[in-house]
Amino acid sequence: MGKVVKIGIIGSGGIAAAHAKAYLEMNEDVEIVGVADVVPGKAREFIDRLNLKGAQSFEDHNRLLELDLDGVSVCTPNVAHHRTSIDSLNANKHVLVEKPLAVTLDQGIEMVEAAKKQDKILSVGFQPRYDPNMQAVKEIVQSGKLGNVYYVQTGGGRRRGMPGGTFINKGLAGAGAMADIGCYSLDLALNALGYPKPLTVSAYTSNYFGTNPTYHPEAEKFEVEDFGVAMVRLEGGKVLNFKISWAMHMDSLGPTLFLGTDAGLKLTPAGSGPWSGVWDGGIGSISLFHDIDNHHVSTAIPVQSHNIDIFKEKVRDFVVSIKENKPAPIPGEQILINQAIIDGVLRSSEKGKEVDIHLPQI
Ligand SMILES: NC(=O)c1ccc[n+]([C@@H]2O[C@H](COP(=O)([O-])OP(=O)(O)OC[C@H]3O[C@@H](n4cnc5c(N)ncnc54)[C@H](O)[C@@H]3O)[C@@H](O)[C@H]2O)c1
Repeated sequence: MGKVVKIGIIGSGGIAAAHAKAYLEMNEDVEIVGVADVVPGKAREFIDRLNLKGAQSFEDHNRLLELDLDGVSVCTPNVAHHRTSIDSLNANKHVLVEKPLAVTLDQGIEMVEAAKKQDKILSVGFQPRYDPNMQAVKEIVQSGKLGNVYYVQTGGGRRRGMPGGTFINKGLAGAGAMADIGCYSLDLALNALGYPKPLTVSAYTSNYFGTNPTYHPEAEKFEVEDFGVAMVRLEGGKVLNFKISWAMHMDSLGPTLFLGTDAGLKLTPAGSGPWSGVWDGGIGSISLFHDIDNHHVSTAIPVQSHNIDIFKEKVRDFVVSIKENKPAPIPGEQILINQAIIDGVLRSSEKGKEVDIHLPQI
């Protein structure tokens, strides 16, 4: 038997249960030793319901952090990612924080700084990275087959698919569709490109659907954007067209495109249901557009069907990285770039003009 990795979970709501199940079912030596939730009795109920034998419950995450732990899963609403992650890192624990990284760019910067200072893992929960088709897209882009990739169109949308609760409260979520599903589609594009630095953003956001009681049962509480579009200039003379929607009178915002000087790549979603999208690993087709002997050819790249549980893979990879002393599988410093773009989108939309993006050297 190898080293047993001891885990704590902060926040015991919906996604925490998925983390707990992933820890319980993985083929690694791992033990959940404690759970914290600010709602009295909620962590205890969670431990009993999921049968986490021997785990202790707390209301204050700092008490949980006094236990002998290697790492924590941060599964709180977005607003609490910052405080709980920084306290965990400062207590010398590795952190797997759910997406998005934080509510504001400044919070994200502080989290990445804390991870660097403590020399601990800060990994962010973007499970679509474990989808083999996502990995195939990255491989194609990185192979150079497309030549110089100068334009990427990413994002997508739901005809109707707006969440409620904490997701529509600006103070708790930070942003709406951008933070919920936009961050995934940014990661798809930026990870494939090798995370180039963003320079400027010109954006527009709106919330015509969320604030209309015809379309949302919590319209009077809806404070975030349900639609956003942005043109992002990236270093290396590249441009990113990023658009996302929780609701619209349209079936699609178009495919995901990578345009290169030698070839282009087009991705379309697998499902047609309201919650499906390329951004969450649901790729339905991958087509390469290229020339052969001056003929315009499009080649279908086979889409792999698989039964990999990408969520469990992200949690397992965190445990393996702790065990084997490896760097963060989905590094906070990369996802800070993602956060900087969302921050730029919100600033630009508010000002009605293009804004610069400045990221400190960490
Ligand atoms: N990766 C994914 O597929 C995925 C899917 C859904 C949600 N998420 C993310 O997971 C996070 C949580 O979402 P959820 O749907 O589980 O929310 P939820 O509201 O069901 O659960 C959050 C829990 O955190 C607790 N909490 C709040 N502040 C806390 C604090 N300071 N310390 C301890 N506990 C605290 C709440 O009481 C609640 O029980 C969000 O950031 C969300 O974006 C990720």
